[in-house]
Formats: sequence, structure tokens, C-alpha cells
Amino acid sequence: MEILKKLLKMLRETDPETYFHTLRVTKVSAEIGELVRLSAREQGLLRCGAMLHDLGKLFVPKVILEKPSGLTEAEYGIVKKHPETGVTMAKEFHLPNEVLEIILYHHERVNGKGYPYGLKRDEIPHLARIVSIADAFDAMTSDRPYRRPMSTEKAVKIIEENLGTQFDSEYGSLFIQSLAGGGKKCWLSKKESRTAMSFNEFAMNRDTFVNTLIQ
Ligand SMILES: [Fe+2]
Repeated sequence: MEILKKLLKMLRETDPETYFHTLRVTKVSAEIGELVRLSAREQGLLRCGAMLHDLGKLFVPKVILEKPSGLTEAEYGIVKKHPETGVTMAKEFHLPNEVLEIILYHHERVNGKGYPYGLKRDEIPHLARIVSIADAFDAMTSDRPYRRPMSTEKAVKIIEENLGTQFDSEYGSLFIQSLAGGGKKCWLSKKESRTAMSFNEFAMNRDTFVNTLIQ
């Protein structure tokens, strides 16, 4: 847990945007983990992996990370290295294999068109398939300095359209059904994401929030 806190502190100080993204992805991942009834041990590994999934972004130049649009092929190539650089870094801390797998495989897609290895379906560890859904959901719905967030409804529609291609069908369906059924809350409402998820507000509650995620 101390290692996790140190790595998170490093991320918070160097790249606040990725840090806040990480916290939101961890929250949504944990909610999906509950929906798929993971064991307590797997939930812990899932939270830890979700917290560290983008660690490799520390090595991607800011100018690329914050570029509004139109990455060149070379720039995109650098971005695509972050799962491998992240896992290389995480290995130094002797983290469990399941955590390393989340970092390495969170951009794989079930149809084999993801990166870094183009793994398919069950070849992708199940915890990484969960984080992949939470990651995409947050990327679409969060406010970035260079673009407005997409509505929850639109993001859900996109996830639905990509079940079985980009996303795990079973996990993605559960996530969507939970939303439609008004079941357990897996994400923040539009209003909440504008207020509670704004950097200042988040910073105020940061320590409490992080402590609820690291259990
Ligand atoms: Fe990533």
C-alpha cells in the first residue's frame, strides 16, 4: 500500500490529469468488479491495477499527451508504448502478476485489434478487460482542457456498439444493464462530473477518496 501511495503521489505531482483519470477509472472498475462478483482478493488486485494502469504515461511527453487532436503516426507510436513502459516501472516494485497484466493489457481489444500485442478475447486477462471498459468510459465522459465531455448516454451507446469487438460482451453488458436498471451507481452523473470531478473539488477530497479506493 505504501508503494501504491508513493507511485500515485508521483503521478499526481507530474501529471495531475492522468492522476484524476486514474482515480475515476479505479472507481468505475471497482463497480464493474462488484457487478461481475469478483472475489475480495481479485477486487483488491483490480483496484491496484486500475490505479497504476497509466503509469507509463509518465514517460510520454506532455506536449503529446495534451495535443488537442491529430497525433502524427510517430507521436501515436510513443503513446502506444505506455503499457510496456508502465509495466517495466511497476516490475521494479515487485507487484503481483495480475496487477502487471492490467497495466500491460488495458489497451487490448477482444477482436485482436488493440495494442501492444493484439491479444483476443480470453487471451486478455479478465481484470484487464474490466479496466478497459472503465478506461474508455472515463476517456469519453471526462472533461479535458481541449474538449467537452461526451454525455453518459452517448458513451454507453458507443460501448454497446463495440461489445464483442473492442469490449468484453459479458462485462460490458452488465455495466450497461446496471445503468439502464437504475441499479448500483457505476459512474457519476453529468452534474457530479462537472462539480465533484473538477480538479479543485477533487483535490479537496483527494485523500479521503484515495483511502476509500485503496483498501
Ligand atoms: Fe492507457
